[in-house]
Formats: sequence, C-alpha cells, structure tokens
Amino acid sequence: MTLNTRKRVFSGIQPTGEAHIGNFFGAIRNWVANQDEHEAFYCIVDLHSLTLPWDPAELTRATLAKGAELLACGVDPGRSVLFVQSHVPAHSELAWILSCVARMGELRRMVQFKEKSKGETESVGVGLFTYPVLQAADVLLYRAHGVPVGEDQRQHIELMRDIGQRFNTLLGETFVLPEAWIPAAGARIMALDDPTQKMSKSADRPASVVQLVDPPDVIVKKVKSAVTDSGREVRAADDKPAVSNLLSIFALAEGVPVAELEERFSTSGYGDFKAALAEVLVQRLAPIRERYRELMADPGETQRLLATGAEAASAIAEETMADVRAKTGLLPRL
Ligand code: AMP
Ligand code: TRP
Repeated sequence: MTLNTRKRVFSGIQPTGEAHIGNFFGAIRNWVANQDEHEAFYCIVDLHSLTLPWDPAELTRATLAKGAELLACGVDPGRSVLFVQSHVPAHSELAWILSCVARMGELRRMVQFKEKSKGETESVGVGLFTYPVLQAADVLLYRAHGVPVGEDQRQHIELMRDIGQRFNTLLGETFVLPEAWIPAAGARIMALDDPTQKMSKSADRPASVVQLVDPPDVIVKKVKSAVTDSGREVRAADDKPAVSNLLSIFALAEGVPVAELEERFSTSGYGDFKAALAEVLVQRLAPIRERYRELMADPGETQRLLATGAEAASAIAEETMADVRAKTGLLPRL
C-alpha cells in the first residue's frame, strides 16, 4: 500500500473513569488494529470531561492514567499520534466556529444529551448540550475518513457529517465527511449486573464493569456475580440477554465464534461457564494490566509521549485552521 492511499482515522476517549472491556472491545481494540494500515490520531478528550461536574485533581490524574492505559492496550506512538485534546487549542477554536454552523434543533435530538441531562435540561451546563460540536471539531480538524467507535457514537458521527457538509456548502469545500467505523462484534457490551444497560464508565456500580486494570481476583468476583437469565442453557438468544452478553465477551476475549462456545458449554451450567469466562478475561487482560503498572511507575515517559503527539497533531490542525479561518472570513493577523 502506498502512502497516499492510507486513510486517516481519528477517535477519542474521555479520561475520567477507568477504561473497561466495553471500551476495549468496542473501540480501543480497533484503534490498535487500524494503526498499521491507516494514519491514526487518538485523542484523550479532557475538555469533554468538563461537561459533567468534575474534580480538577482527579482530571489531571485520570488524563495521564488514560494515556498509560491506551499505551498498555497497544496504541503505539511510533505508528499513531496519541495526544491530549486541550494540548491542541485548535479543537476549541474550531468548536466555536462550528457552533455557529450547528443548529439548536439537531443538537436537541442527540440521545446522549437526553440521557446525560436526565431531563434537567435547564440546570445542566451548556457544554453538555454543545458536546457533540466539540466532538465534530475533533474529527473534522484532522480531515479524518474513519472514526472507530462503539455503537453509542453513531448519532454523533452522523451529526458531524451534517455540520461538515453544511460548512462545505456555505463556505466552500473544506472538510472530509467522516464515517463511523463500528465493529460487527463488541460495539455494545452490556453491564454485568443489568443486560438492558450498556457497560459505562460513569455507572456508579463497580460490579457492572470489568475494568482493564482490575486485579485478577476482582475480575473473578465480578464475573461470578454477573446476572444470568432463567433456564440453564449457555446459549445466545433474544430471551437470554445476560447470557448472550457474557457469550459475546467470551468470544471477543478468546477470539472464537459464539457458536463454538455454545457447543463447548452445551453440557455445562452457568457456574462453570462463568468460571471459564473469568479465567479467559484474566488471561486476556493480564498483559495490559502489567504494562499499565510499569508505565504508571514512570509517568514522565507517558507525559513525554503525549507531548510529542500534541506537536504532531498541532501541525495538521494548524493547516486545517488556516483554511477554515480564511474560508470563514476572519482577518489574517499580519
Ligand atoms: P467513553 O467511555 O464514552 O469515553 O467511550 C470511549 C469509546 O468506547 C467510544 O468509542 C464508545 O463508543 C466505546 N464504548 C463505550 N462504552 C461501550 C460499550 N459498553 N460497548 C462498546 N463500546 C463502548
Ligand atoms: N463522545 C465520545 C464518547 O463518549 C468521545 C469522543 C470525543 C470522540 N471526541 C471524539 C469519539 C471524536 C470519536 C471521535 O465516547
């Protein structure tokens, strides 16, 4: 493959909350897979974490820790640009310009805003409402083609296409319209304690998520206490949402089809199945946890890598911004 046929990909993750297996199988795994064939930009979106009440010291800690988690998962700064959103101020500048192109009505339709504002639409911060505009700026700034994300981000990617398209029509061809790259399996991992809700970093129920850096005994405990369905067959089916979720996690962690697992556990009960799943997850996550611990022992190295990433990202971002400012009609500074 020649250089100029490489597509550019961009994705982001919020720093707050430890990454979990939903983030990993839904997104991060594909970030890692994409860095060989594509020109990849991966961003720790700290400004997005200001859209709900936050603790400044915790934000600082979590941003660095998220860098270490991503490196531990296999994001390779030799092949990808890994950086912190606030280190490239162009994200905020473009977000403002795009907020003047986006429409109230289209933002109001965003399901994530409705969920996160929990009906308190008058008292939540304005940033929670304009969150998807900043997200649009993140991707459009790099003129990325592909956005590897989980299913919950599909609507946000559709919106950034609409905003980019409107800018292009109003002011001239500027942005690439990005596509959501959503995996066939793993795009929506559900909570262990409630298969009707997605596994989420912001859930305040520790037993609902397996974090990538959970110690083995914690993983075993969480998997064993995961809810199951009525009946006793280990089988994926619409009336077995909990077991179906555990089967897809197992299939992703071991890299085998669900059908093979149904066959393997055809004579087992839920207890044996969950014990085997815990074992597979412990094995799969052990190297990530180990590498994370090494990186956190010397956080200076992670911080240096993030600084290098920000420099590389800024160079691309500045090119786009020069074009955007000109098209927008902002007077160039002499
Ligand atoms: P967040 O945790 O919201 O910062 O999400 C980071 C990335 O993980 C996004 O691409 C999400 O779509 C993805 N993601 C989050 N939760 C899940 C989940 N339960 N299943 C699959 N993907 C997820
Ligand atoms: N909103 C995304 C999430 O909650 C995070 C995000 C911010 C993002 N900017 C992005 C994802 C740009 C993809 C591309 O998961």
